Amino acid sequence: PTKREYTWIIQDHELNPDGMWRPMVLINGTFPGPLIECNEGDELVVHVLNQASNATSIHWHGLYQNGTNWMDGTVGVTNCPIAPGSSFTYRFNVTGQSGTYYYHSHMSMQASDGLVGPLIIHARDGKEKEWQKVPYDQDRVVMLSDHYYDLSSELLAQYLAPGNENEEPVPPSALINGRNVRNCSDLPNRKCSTIGLAQALFDLSATASTRLRIINVGAFAEFSLQIDEHEFQVTEVDGTDVHPQRIHRLNITPAQRYSIILTLPRENIKGLYWMRARMITHCFAYENPELQEEVWATLRYHHQPFEVDVLPPQTHDWPEPIEVECLDLNTTSLSPILPIRAPENTDHFISLRASFQIRDWRLSRGYLNDSSFYTNASAPILHTYLDAYDSASAMADGVNTALFDPDKQLVFQTRTISTITILIQNFDDGNHPFHLHGYKFFVLGQGHGYAPANIQDAGVLDVRNPLRRDTASMEGFGWLLIRFVADNSGAWAFHCHVGWHVEAGLGMVLVTRGERMGGWDGREEGVGRELCDLRGVW
Ligand code: C2O
Repeated sequence: PTKREYTWIIQDHELNPDGMWRPMVLINGTFPGPLIECNEGDELVVHVLNQASNATSIHWHGLYQNGTNWMDGTVGVTNCPIAPGSSFTYRFNVTGQSGTYYYHSHMSMQASDGLVGPLIIHARDGKEKEWQKVPYDQDRVVMLSDHYYDLSSELLAQYLAPGNENEEPVPPSALINGRNVRNCSDLPNRKCSTIGLAQALFDLSATASTRLRIINVGAFAEFSLQIDEHEFQVTEVDGTDVHPQRIHRLNITPAQRYSIILTLPRENIKGLYWMRARMITHCFAYENPELQEEVWATLRYHHQPFEVDVLPPQTHDWPEPIEVECLDLNTTSLSPILPIRAPENTDHFISLRASFQIRDWRLSRGYLNDSSFYTNASAPILHTYLDAYDSASAMADGVNTALFDPDKQLVFQTRTISTITILIQNFDDGNHPFHLHGYKFFVLGQGHGYAPANIQDAGVLDVRNPLRRDTASMEGFGWLLIRFVADNSGAWAFHCHVGWHVEAGLGMVLVTRGERMGGWDGREEGVGRELCDLRGVW
């Protein structure tokens, strides 16, 4: 195993990723953040020095953190934030997984201020190319994100203010790998300059094939991605290699990842093509007059003999209309290369109703059943649990009412390895991409309306080799059924990955395999408690 060590200095910056200047928070002054590329089994050591004016915390999205739950970086669940002027070292092994991941701030909605970047894990022993059934020689990261012109803290204060009925701030812009070029004269009231800016450019050889790792690192918008005249094959879903599936338009919600392998156009290949990523505006609460829904990038093929075409590309959109629906990619036909049978039966069945409700005076909050999650930055669930572990050792499996108020912090706990099934029924019109920390789950079902009443009956579900991923969405007024073997000790957040929604309370925590946590002398060392002593500073 190799140790890969990074030092990240977090600072406030003014930046104009698409022309419009705005305050941002960046790692080592770069946007998006630096690529972390490692091999399965490596040790990652990341020293984070926070020189910004707000607290921060870095979460490694999709990483198991097996045995290192306190490195998960989830404020209020596993960690206290890193106060301005202080620092913290993340140290963990990357084991048991490979593929496309990313990291992002898990302090409030700070990810949307620029604290995001890609994390690629290569499988051991050259298995990567073996598991990817379509050969490729070029490998590129494509990060899609919505883009706001104001700090997330300001937008969040408006969104969570009384009287706002879950009207999420609509992003005015979108980026590919942190880039876009807007027309400054469209928005005369904003400070803008586009000198030196260019759309993202992917330089590729026309004689080799290309894997693109698509990551939606945004806060809210779902994207529909296409490349003019290109079909592609989906070969990876959230770190799971799958049998190739040919499509030409990919829908991707926040926090999801897909790898696609490009199929070169059959006839006379051109040098330049547009890649188009369009935000699915059907998911938006209202019309934003500043909105430009599409962001483009250029694919440039170098022919033999070498020649470079002159920008911009002259290619055209795929002819059929883009679906306006706010729907996840249909993944029912995607099956993992390494087959794993899901457990036929479950030890725990958690049934959740997801909704937005106004219960307190004019305040719209997200609910899972009767719980709207409030993050307590200075008392992470993990610490509370560890402190009370001995006395809590008699606590039974199920909702933890001894340590947490289930109306404000819904915590479901299991003591030993067990199988957990979660059915979420959506009573809201929005699409909610739900993410579970510390695991990949089996996606057993997704659909419109009510889940079939017999879904708990034996033999109803196809458990032979379901898709395994870490972020799956539940469409408006639809449902989602997931199952996983809860063998990873720790406190793991389960939440909607729309930044606005998790901040409004649409989440819960699963404390799994709790019995093992009693032996963590991480209880005294390593869990980052020293950060909690700085609570006056954030
Ligand atoms: Cu991408 Cu709770 O995280």
